[in-house]
Amino acid sequence: MPRHAYIWFVLVGYLCIFTPSSSSIQYDKNPNTKSGESALDSKIGTTIHKKSPTSSSSPDVDSLSCQDLDGDGSLNTTCLLRSQLNLNSDLYVYGNGNLEILPYVSVMCLIEGCTVTFNLSGYVNIGHHATVVAGTVVFSASNLRMDDGSSVNTTSLGGLPPPQTSGVPAGYEGAGGGHGGRGASCWKNRKKNVWGGDVYGWSSLQEPWSYGSKGGRKSPESRYGGNGGGRIRVAVTDVVYVNGFVTADGGFGGSAGGGGSGGSIFVQAGKLKGYGTISAAGGTGWGGGGGGRISLDCRSIQDDLKISVRGGLSIGCPENGGAAGTYFNADSLTLRVGNDNVTTETETIFLDFPSSPFWSHATVENNARVLAPLLWSRIQVRGQISLYRRGSIIFGLGYFPMFSEFELVAEELLVSDSTIKVFGELRVTVKKMLMWNSKIDQTAVDELEDGKGFVSDVEFPKTNLVLP
Ligand SMILES: *[C@@H]1O[C@H](CO)[C@@H](O)[C@H](O)[C@H]1NC(C)=O
Ligand SMILES: *[C@@H]1O[C@H](CO)[C@@H](O)[C@H](O)[C@H]1NC(C)=O
Ligand SMILES: *[C@@H]1O[C@H](CO)[C@@H](O)[C@H](O)[C@H]1NC(C)=O
Ligand SMILES: *[C@@H]1O[C@H](CO)[C@@H](O)[C@H](O)[C@H]1NC(C)=O
Repeated sequence: MPRHAYIWFVLVGYLCIFTPSSSSIQYDKNPNTKSGESALDSKIGTTIHKKSPTSSSSPDVDSLSCQDLDGDGSLNTTCLLRSQLNLNSDLYVYGNGNLEILPYVSVMCLIEGCTVTFNLSGYVNIGHHATVVAGTVVFSASNLRMDDGSSVNTTSLGGLPPPQTSGVPAGYEGAGGGHGGRGASCWKNRKKNVWGGDVYGWSSLQEPWSYGSKGGRKSPESRYGGNGGGRIRVAVTDVVYVNGFVTADGGFGGSAGGGGSGGSIFVQAGKLKGYGTISAAGGTGWGGGGGGRISLDCRSIQDDLKISVRGGLSIGCPENGGAAGTYFNADSLTLRVGNDNVTTETETIFLDFPSSPFWSHATVENNARVLAPLLWSRIQVRGQISLYRRGSIIFGLGYFPMFSEFELVAEELLVSDSTIKVFGELRVTVKKMLMWNSKIDQTAVDELEDGKGFVSDVEFPKTNLVLP
């Protein structure tokens, strides 16, 4: 099969590709990460509960009104915030009315993991160029409107990542933190693929709620790189307008440390509208941080919104940025992994795909590089698996010889300007397959520890092949 071949397959029945087994090692699944969910547990009352972000025991509870927030009006009718609020502890705002943060007003708690919650029965408006900045920001309301230039920004303010995860890179390579995608490492060892912080939170990507991780250090004496991205949760019964920025990006590591990984954004709303940006991207650093996780559970989403889970840029190795995170559409059950054209040799990990229900589609695009490392992995969706614009999916691990078998099951497989790479045996079960300027690559030699790989051909069932 020629490389970069122009191939168009329409398969009447099933297509199976078997390649001789090569290698794989058992890949430990990351522990399920649900920690921090208790932060959503909330108190009821027309009060503002303040407590220290560092000690959750015996919180220092204050009962505050709209006036205590330096606002006008009441949280049971409409409260207008007119002046900047600088917080040094968590904030919980509860009321039966509405809240308006007026233009250019900011509400800030610049402490890692500091939590600001707005729980209103009515609407919340964030005026143009107004900002809410904290480690975790939660909105529960009937409607949320963010005007031009406004922002809800948890960038670089994440608290601790879940326990027993390895998102913060060990070693002194100044590698990026991991979360939705792995962080990049600029340490050159082409015999083995190397990466910085690892991924976590796959099993909760539909309702992501983990902080991003710090980027790595360059020496035992130096500080860690960029901090991890924070968390944003929006639960709105009616409409969310985003004409500003909703960000949970990883922090900047400079050339002295890795970029932090992106955090988590979870939006549930009837409709999501606007032309703003929702981003949980990895931070720039010596090695770029991995992208975070975004899930949007909305009946409709306006196309003009920019949604990004890209990896961070790597100052130490520009060709190898952080890996993309995950963007899940929880209404259509569609997973997208895209790196916004940031080139990378670092992988986003696919673990188990659920079967009850199956997801509808999975798309890997714009330079994202996905690895399905588990023995017996199966990537299965009801509809399409699509690879566009230099997307790639790698099945298996090339450097440790062992038998492994993979399955790709879908109605359609669409591959355009992209690559599928296989270490081991891959069974593709699809009704229709379209390949444009793409290849299925099984030349594993360069990735094997001892340089002795295998090279094999893919046998397509000729009777089922229709060439244009
Ligand atoms: C908001 O308050 C309601 C009670 O009115 C409660 O059930 C809900 O959990 C609260 N949400 C958040 C995010 O605090
Ligand atoms: C707001 O309404 C609740 C009951 O709905 C009441 O308990 C509370 O005192 C009211 N707060 C103010 C400031 O009016
Ligand atoms: C969010 O905060 C980060 C860190 O302070 C800052 O660099 C970035 O410009 C902010 N983003 C927006 C959209 O305000
Ligand atoms: C990525 O590149 C494609 C062309 O290959 C372009 O259409 C697209 O706009 C680019 N995306 C970004 C986010 O730069």
